[in-house]
Amino acid sequence: MRLLVLGGTHFLGRAVVSAALDRSWDVTIFRRGTSGDDPADVHSVRGDYTNPHDVARLAEHGPWDAVIDPLAFVPRETLSVARALKDHVQRYVVVSTVSAYEGWPVEPLIESSTVLDCPSDAGPDYGYDGDPGPSTYGFGKAGCERAVAGTFGEDRTTILRPGVILGPHEYVGRLPWWLRRLEGGGRVLAPGNPARTIQPVDVRDVADFALRCAEGISGVFNVTAPGIETFGDFLGACAAVAAPTGTELIWAPDEFLVSNGVRQWTELPLWRTYAGTWDVDSSRARAAGLTTRPLAKTVRDTWEWVVGEGPELSNERAAELGITAEREAALLAEYESRHHW
Ligand SMILES: NC(=O)c1ccc[n+]([C@@H]2O[C@H](COP(=O)([O-])OP(=O)(O)OC[C@H]3O[C@@H](n4cnc5c(N)ncnc54)[C@H](OP(=O)(O)O)[C@@H]3O)[C@@H](O)[C@H]2O)c1
Repeated sequence: MRLLVLGGTHFLGRAVVSAALDRSWDVTIFRRGTSGDDPADVHSVRGDYTNPHDVARLAEHGPWDAVIDPLAFVPRETLSVARALKDHVQRYVVVSTVSAYEGWPVEPLIESSTVLDCPSDAGPDYGYDGDPGPSTYGFGKAGCERAVAGTFGEDRTTILRPGVILGPHEYVGRLPWWLRRLEGGGRVLAPGNPARTIQPVDVRDVADFALRCAEGISGVFNVTAPGIETFGDFLGACAAVAAPTGTELIWAPDEFLVSNGVRQWTELPLWRTYAGTWDVDSSRARAAGLTTRPLAKTVRDTWEWVVGEGPELSNERAAELGITAEREAALLAEYESRHHW
């Protein structure tokens, strides 16, 4: 297989490249060259996704059997890239997100659920940010899906809609934040119901599925864990690898946290009360070959990365994650003073 990966050195793209090399595929990556080194054994083409001349130059390095695109955020950019690659690539696998659905995070979702309406040539500011949704991010992804499908045709397009992705090299920093918090020990404010089922998917499982699709599977796929494991399992797994003896999880119900203004999703990462957050059906992907590893394995491997090479969490999103020690202590004191919540 000749595979083109747009990007390829950060998180999902990195996992895709690594899995493709494990399969002895012939891999080309395309990136600006601003974030780290190229992996060994790939062809690397330098250029900017947003620059049509660079993408036209990239096309001369083809043909490829498939392209995997995690850089699709702005529809008009993706439209231009898809048009430039159309005659040089057999299949376009575009990485979208569950945020492309109108109903996320409120409603249960399947692939035929309504997607946000965004033109295929929209700019970066199309749409709006609502609470709890939709988001300009989701509008943009929906427009990128449309740009690819409209250019390559449905039989040469694969649309992946992952939910939360975790694993080594995670750039958002959600799992690293919890691991570091558990490492700090003491009394840990744990959000909501420990029996709440959650669906984070390991980055390596998304990558494996993307490659499977690259080999010739068309269509739209939600890519999430099945939703059997719980928030309690998740923090238990974090505690098992990171927490000192004597660490105690204090589970505070949603109502208490909401009434105290705790910011969902960010202040206590991955905690969100809306019923659709973790109600995404991925049975279609499973039938097409998606397999997902146990959450404890993702947690263990991410911990090894956190304490080894370590995350560079300097981006904007990582900066808004987490609760301060003072606020956590105040909330715990408040909660315990009204224990009957
Ligand atoms: N995290 C989640 O929970 C989650 C959930 C659902 C969906 N997703 C989706 O998953 C994808 C994650 O992608 P990733 O960041 O992990 O991909 P990646 O391919 O691992 O990293 C980004 C790469 O793109 C390159 N790059 C960035 N801007 C570029 C540009 N303008 N032109 C050329 N290259 C550029 C970077 O290298 P240089 O800096 O050298 O250019 C880097 O190699 C996104 O599409 C995201 O929306 C994520």
